[in-house]
Amino acid sequence: MIRLSSKQLRDGMVTAQSVFNQKGASFITSGTPLTERYIHRLQKMGISHLAVTSLSPDAALPPPPGIVDERVREQSIRTIATAFTQLESQSSFDLGALQNSANDLLDSVLHMQSNLVQLSDIRMHDSYTFAHSVNVAILSTMLGSLCHLHRDELKLLTLGGLLHDIGKVDIPYKLLNKPGALTDEEFALMRSHAEIGRKRLLQLPGPNTAILANIAGQHHEFLDGRGYPRRLKGDAIHPYARIVAIADVYDALSSKRSYKKSYKPSVVHQIMTKNSVGHFSPELLELFFDNVAIYPVGTVMLTSLGYGIVKKVSFGKTLTPVITIFATKDAKLVPKPFNVDLSQCPADNTIHHAIDDTELINFVRVIGVDPAIFLREE
Ligand SMILES: [Fe+2]
Repeated sequence: MIRLSSKQLRDGMVTAQSVFNQKGASFITSGTPLTERYIHRLQKMGISHLAVTSLSPDAALPPPPGIVDERVREQSIRTIATAFTQLESQSSFDLGALQNSANDLLDSVLHMQSNLVQLSDIRMHDSYTFAHSVNVAILSTMLGSLCHLHRDELKLLTLGGLLHDIGKVDIPYKLLNKPGALTDEEFALMRSHAEIGRKRLLQLPGPNTAILANIAGQHHEFLDGRGYPRRLKGDAIHPYARIVAIADVYDALSSKRSYKKSYKPSVVHQIMTKNSVGHFSPELLELFFDNVAIYPVGTVMLTSLGYGIVKKVSFGKTLTPVITIFATKDAKLVPKPFNVDLSQCPADNTIHHAIDDTELINFVRVIGVDPAIFLREE
């Protein structure tokens, strides 16, 4: 798997991520073979980069399976977009439609539970909040399910994930997409979305509005009391808000915004576990990354055994995938590539680093073969 600039895309490459247009409809779903027409349209839409399953069209692979049905995801993006529009014009929204979406998302996540999270989709700026809300709902449901929450609890958590950023309805669009640093005033306004969301959701009818309001109001609180808006600590933060906080940061770091690039899962893992100590519940974070591929299938890496490509990632072993070693450490192809399960190896058989995309293009030039070819079934 490699992320290429749209100028490097070629006919026959297979997409490894979906692209959503402004209306929340998918323009391309993951697994689509590219054509010249698609590539031209992507460039016109301003999509600068896209992940494909291989560099060479001859080595194209199917993408790893997702954790939710793409049609359900698309439908949910449209529903949450409609809720935002309704709130802007009528100050209320169709909660029933969102509850139906939450149900469909929950069914789909539970149905596809055996799959790991592999790669985020790409959203156009205009639809970022909607696609992000749906992704947070999906990732929260996944984590809630790993915590063995009951179906009714999961339903509420999914709905809370969909609505966690509803307070952004009152934040100017220009500010939401502002490239570059925010002034102190803008920063304060942006941060107010949590409290706005809490207040908006408290006005809804129904027995569970307090929990939905807590999720929206507390999803930026950190366990150590350094979050916002109320600097709540530990157990004072609702357990569902602690789940949504992890899903929110994971998705935000994984996606490209006007002011930041997207980070690879291994970098997101590093940031969330090493550079964010005290922010998240360590048990929840560990469970979350048990089910998120830190090195997705197709990642090329340098290890103490030589160069390998990730062949399989399993639940609970996401730091130690099964890889196919295809070249020596000095980049000479081995006559017979072989599989190694890093979880079964001594601790000194380690991953040195995952090869980044620019490095991979040069590496392929040097060795003369696209490593994705080694993932093809023998
Ligand atoms: Fe937020």
